Order: sequence, then C-alpha cells, then structure tokens
Amino acid sequence: MSIEASPRANRSHSTRNGYEIRLCRDSLSQDSEWFDVRLGSRWQRLRLHDYDKIYAVPGLYEAVYNRLLRCTSPERVVSLLREAMADGHEPTGNLRVLDLGAGNGLVSEELRCLPVAKVLGVDILPEARQAALRDRGWCFDDYIVANLLDLPEETEALLRNARFNGLTCVAALDFGDIPKTAFLKALDLIEAPGWLAFNVKETFLQEELDDGFARLLGQLTRTGVIKLQAYRRYQHRVSCAGQPLHYIAVVATKERVIPHGMLAPRLDPLHRNGRLCLDPALGGPPERASQESRPAKSVTSK
Ligand SMILES: C[S@@+](CC[C@H](N)C(=O)[O-])C[C@H]1O[C@@H](n2cnc3c(N)ncnc32)[C@H](O)[C@@H]1O
Repeated sequence: MSIEASPRANRSHSTRNGYEIRLCRDSLSQDSEWFDVRLGSRWQRLRLHDYDKIYAVPGLYEAVYNRLLRCTSPERVVSLLREAMADGHEPTGNLRVLDLGAGNGLVSEELRCLPVAKVLGVDILPEARQAALRDRGWCFDDYIVANLLDLPEETEALLRNARFNGLTCVAALDFGDIPKTAFLKALDLIEAPGWLAFNVKETFLQEELDDGFARLLGQLTRTGVIKLQAYRRYQHRVSCAGQPLHYIAVVATKERVIPHGMLAPRLDPLHRNGRLCLDPALGGPPERASQESRPAKSVTSK
C-alpha cells in the first residue's frame, strides 16, 4: 500500500540502511500496531505483525523491533537458558536446538554464541527462511519452512533424525502466531532429557486471561513431562506508544516423553475439535482467532 505519511505516526527515524520509519503513537493492541516506512521515494504502511513484508526488506525487522522498540527477548531468553544450564553444570555445547518460529535468525544467532552444537530453524513463512539465510546463514545447520501441525512424513523423519535435545521459541507464542498444539508437537520432537527456553506475554500466564497455554504448562509439569528450571519477568520491548511490555522467559527441562493421549486430537479429552481443551469440565479455552482454528496454511518444505 502506498500512502502519505500519517500525522499520527510522528517522530521520524532514519536508519542505517537509508530508509525512514515513523511509528504509530496510538495505544493499540500488540497485533494492531503499525508503522510507516519510506523505501526510496514511496511510503508504505505495515503492521508490526506483517512479518513477511518486513523480512523482505534487509535490516527493517532489526530497525523497528530492536532499535526503535528496544526488543531484548532473543538475548534475554537465551541468556536465561545459559544461566540455568550453568547452574546445572550442563555444557551448552552439546545442545542440538530446534528454533521454532525462527524468523530472520536473531535467536539462532544468540544460540550460536553460547555456543551450541547444532541449530535448525523452523518457520511457517518462506520469507523468514529467505531473510535468515540472507542475513544469518552461518547460524543454521538447516532451516525449514513448515507447519508443525501438518508435517509431511519426510520432514517429520528429518526432524526426528536430527535428535534435538533443545527447543527455543521466542516472541512467537501469542497473538495468533504459534498455536499451543504446534508448540506441543515441537516439544514432542525433542528428546528427553532435553532443554526448552521460550517466552510469553505475562498476561497470557494469568489464570483469568489464560487462553490455554498456562494450563498446558501446568499439565506438562504435573505429568512430569517438563520440569521448570528458571523463569524471569522482564521488559520484552516497548509498545509503539512507548509503554513497557512485560514478558516471562521460561526455561525448563524435558524429563520424559509426552503421553500419547496429549498428542492425539479427538482421542483425548485434552483436545476438542483439534483444539487443546485442557480442562474438559470448563469446556476449554475461549475462542481466539488463531491458527489453531484455521485450516493449515500451504507451505513448502525447505
Ligand atoms: C516476532 S517473530 C519472532 C522471530 C524470532 N523468534 C525472534 O525472536 O526474533 C514470530 C515468528 O513466528 C513465526 N510463526 C508464526 N506462526 C508460526 C507457526 N505456526 N509455525 C512456525 N512459525 C510461526 C512468524 O512467521 C515469525 O517469523
């Protein structure tokens, strides 16, 4: 969309790459925030969640999220993983990590610096893979474009053969991004013993606002599948209006395989119509417009 720069998107920021960005200063929900960017002589309006379009412009994701909105999550989550492993006298150098919702590779870059033995990125967007290989190809042993809820057999075999013992998922578990069932599938692809590190907006772990993720974590903990090792509340980034947004970073160990019933939709009361329903008595989490209730997107593998 070509537009005139909006008066509400005040304060213009020039970037190293030579384009200009104006953030919307209204207080909007995180999935509605937007900015205007001048690329050459044209202004374009993008939502912060228009990842495909943002990744297509080299450096734009970093300029908006890291520099203007001061996002710290890749570094914060990976450093909590490093600290928890150091406390347990576990070397990170043995980790073979599946980075779920890998985007353009900022988390994988942090992992490489730990260091770890292996990193495979997975994202649902081909544009994420293109950007990651364009900007941080050295961070990846492989990067596949896939929907974990609809994996072709050969992709699943490839992922299982990689024998992951680490899972990261940063800034991707809310606002219609990665559904709980896909997170559970990723956890199933990790061997036990293994490590997981992820973050989630703090309100998503509050009982009254829980859309099922907190209950999933509770269930995984109670059944002994995971053991909580560390968590930290921190400022993930600021909103476009400049307000702090707090997230919780979580590090846990995978202790045992996920019971079959939790993974099998329809056969188990945890799932209803393919959606997680962790407390059948309550009728499950409220409806949200997320990918869980949408048909699987068509994606290409690798
Ligand atoms: C905010 S970005 C975070 C990227 C990276 N983890 C980071 O912290 O820089 C969220 C990413 O999750 C990806 N994503 C959303 N839904 C997904 C799904 N169902 N499966 C895999 N990736 C998904 C998006 O395409 C996007 O690249």
